[in-house]
Amino acid sequence: MGDNIADGLSPVLPELSGLLPDLRGMDIASLLTDYARMAKILSVMDAARFLEENFASAQNLGGRENLLRHACCSVAMDGDVLEFGVMGGQTLAILCDEFEDRPVHGFDSFRGLPEDWTHDSPSGTYSTGGQVPTDLPSNAKLHIGLFEDTLPTYLADSDAPVALLHIDSDLYSSARTALFGLAPRLRAGSLIVFDEFLNYPGWRRHEYRAFMEFVEAFDVEFRYFSFASSYLSVAVRLDSAPKVS
Ligand SMILES: C[S@@+](CC[C@H](N)C(=O)[O-])C[C@H]1O[C@@H](n2cnc3c(N)ncnc32)[C@H](O)[C@@H]1O
Repeated sequence: MGDNIADGLSPVLPELSGLLPDLRGMDIASLLTDYARMAKILSVMDAARFLEENFASAQNLGGRENLLRHACCSVAMDGDVLEFGVMGGQTLAILCDEFEDRPVHGFDSFRGLPEDWTHDSPSGTYSTGGQVPTDLPSNAKLHIGLFEDTLPTYLADSDAPVALLHIDSDLYSSARTALFGLAPRLRAGSLIVFDEFLNYPGWRRHEYRAFMEFVEAFDVEFRYFSFASSYLSVAVRLDSAPKVS
């Protein structure tokens, strides 16, 4: 990434320009009292600064599906592929497609977010009313229930390392449950894709926070591997296994 403001901002320009039609015609007084719009602008600026400081050698993959597929192609170790947050199975199907020769484990209650997330995403958001997707590829293995209930059963049944972990469950608590629970199975070379890591109001309180706490708790070395400038996702690659006592 370059070292001037224009270069630093360019990864998030699609996001910023998406806000511009909305802002055109608004007088400054209205904008300054519109908390939601200002919060969005501030979060994009905060994400831009974060990218400039932390993603110097990471690839910009543009959108979330590109980022997810690129992470799959970059896996260079044996091991399990896991997704936390399945809902309709859209991203689980991508993982199944990329890893035809491995089982892909999908975790979800199908009851939506168990807690409030952002202003417009209260608990229950994304619920399918308990309905499980029926048209999933044959290598998809579902673990139905809250992560804190289903993860211990998975861990008891498999001692395989985790090659790729996709966290698409939005909340701090859900990401923390997955990361801390899987710490004994993550290795140097494991890839973790976070679907909502940055670039929305409150991003520092959710997946980002859970990952920072995981890094600190298990003394993990990692690098930012890629990001999606038109979305909220990033991928990280672990350079050391979590130190689990
Ligand atoms: C954004 S949706 C997943 C979208 C999906 N990956 C896709 O792109 O098609 C988030 C899902 O996470 C699930 N979820 C979040 N926290 C959870 C938890 N602690 N236990 C079980 N499911 C959870 C919700 O039920 C919801 O279906």
